[in-house]
Amino acid sequence: MVLHKDGGILDQLAALIGDWDGTLQRRYCHLSNASAFLSGWLEDINWVGFYLVDDSGQNLVLGPFQGKVACTDIPFAKGVCGLCARTGKSVRVDDVHAFPDHIACDSASRSELVVPLFDAKGRVMGVLDADSPKLARFTADDQELLEGAAAVISRLLYS
Ligand code: SME
Repeated sequence: MVLHKDGGILDQLAALIGDWDGTLQRRYCHLSNASAFLSGWLEDINWVGFYLVDDSGQNLVLGPFQGKVACTDIPFAKGVCGLCARTGKSVRVDDVHAFPDHIACDSASRSELVVPLFDAKGRVMGVLDADSPKLARFTADDQELLEGAAAVISRLLYS
């Protein structure tokens, strides 16, 4: 496990971002705090944050995050994030060097977990991406918990 479950992390996340007023500015405000919150809870990560679908519906643009400077644009056709966005399914990569399409933003990254964000109609609105310098850092439990976080974010900021 990389997240401490004892504090009711999803409840805390919901409380943190629960007063969205419908504006883009405040969505980014809450996504920023969500990335900082998750960064504080996740152990052994070097990057966590969001890539958000642009107006074309075919590209991801860098959103709020914690970590090193990252690539700003990811087409749906590329990378772990693109695979998650175009399929609408979580992608867990134990060894990014063995994933041919991986986009290396931070050369320290060795494993990665990406989960989708959806609007109320089930359309992919973006992805939540976590990277770790450790091989196989993310377990099925971590995936379940980050999918839970993405569900909270989707419900409170995209519905
Ligand atoms: N590794 C990702 C790119 C984003 S960075 O990890 C922050 C990918 O392959 O899509």
